[in-house]
Amino acid sequence: MKSTHNIFFANSSKMDQIEDNSIDLIVTSPPYPMIEMWDHQFFQMNPEIADALNQGEGLSAYELMHQELDKIWMEIDRVLKEGSIICINIGDATRKVGQLFQLFSNHSRILNYFIKSGFEVLPEILWRKQSNKPNKFMGSGMLPPNAYVTSEHEYILVMRKGNNREFTGEQKKLRDESAYFWEERNLWFSDIWTDLKGIDQKISSNLTHRERSAAYPFELAYRLINMFSIKGDTVLDPFLGTGTTLIAAMASNRNSVGIEIDPGFREVIQIRLQNILEFLNAYLTTRIKQHLQFVREMEKKNKPLKYNSDLYDFKVVTNQETKICFNLLKEIKQVNESYEISYYDEKKNQKIIENLINNSQVEFISDEKKQKVSFQQKLD
Ligand SMILES: C[S@@+](CC[C@H](N)C(=O)[O-])C[C@H]1O[C@@H](n2cnc3c(N)ncnc32)[C@H](O)[C@@H]1O
Repeated sequence: MKSTHNIFFANSSKMDQIEDNSIDLIVTSPPYPMIEMWDHQFFQMNPEIADALNQGEGLSAYELMHQELDKIWMEIDRVLKEGSIICINIGDATRKVGQLFQLFSNHSRILNYFIKSGFEVLPEILWRKQSNKPNKFMGSGMLPPNAYVTSEHEYILVMRKGNNREFTGEQKKLRDESAYFWEERNLWFSDIWTDLKGIDQKISSNLTHRERSAAYPFELAYRLINMFSIKGDTVLDPFLGTGTTLIAAMASNRNSVGIEIDPGFREVIQIRLQNILEFLNAYLTTRIKQHLQFVREMEKKNKPLKYNSDLYDFKVVTNQETKICFNLLKEIKQVNESYEISYYDEKKNQKIIENLINNSQVEFISDEKKQKVSFQQKLD
């Protein structure tokens, strides 16, 4: 069992590397219009944006920036298969241009584009960003009425191209294997996520002019991929940055394609991938550990679960979860800008998970950088 992950350092406004109707899911986060750290990139795309800002015309700068993103959304439409989902992580911006302080609602401008282009807009998710300045306030401080609320959330916009996807033959089996646990469903399909941890934004390379990575949490990409695609699918991120989407696809037994305009990120991604296998296996086994804990809690409450997992020695809540199958990663091979992941075969997977069920020593993992202890050492 294998998955393939291709990276292109190019401009996503023309994705010549990708065929029409070949992508099953988009998970991405663009540069945010009207947030200063992205000004430079937008000025390069269209110098009129800099002129508009210099002349104090905030709203026209905002519109011109979005017109640059629209070009990429148009390409997304071309490469996506019918029935596929698009997830876009975006934050709104507040900014003073000239004398005027105002909100630039990025999420609503992007939603409008997709509505006008005929996509089906589905319920969105708000995720709460942990602020490093919780007491920050803007405007007139303690005196009404001219203080402004602090923005501590971002949006994940969810859209679909066309009607619901259909599954036939082998795909039905893969869909069953791609099930998530009932208790995960309750958390993941809530429209407010408050439990995502922020990630270290420092960049470990001097090849890019950026100081901050603007990466989203691994968990955000991992959840979306597992909510909206099945094993063997191909996920695209047209704004790859540090490669989070690609890494989450590796953990999910999906293929992926990532496009990033800044070649300085080549090294950032390579460094990040060096120790990733340990983290991903620990992350997957943590999911199982958390399920085992849930099973024990339900038993304590005298509410034992009804169904047996087909592959593993644990119970699940619903019939839909019985075929759930975890694929732990065996090896990551790099060939130029492409990565091939091989996964353990079913027997080895079962053995590792059996070990896990009987070995309470394995700790819960949530942080890629703190994943120092060898997963293999703990289980062998
Ligand atoms: C918000 S960051 C994405 C961060 C990413 N989700 C991660 O976890 O690292 C947006 C990325 O899009 C890239 N970018 C901006 N315009 C682009 C374009 N036209 N084509 C490809 N990449 C672009 C930027 O260089 C930046 O790395």
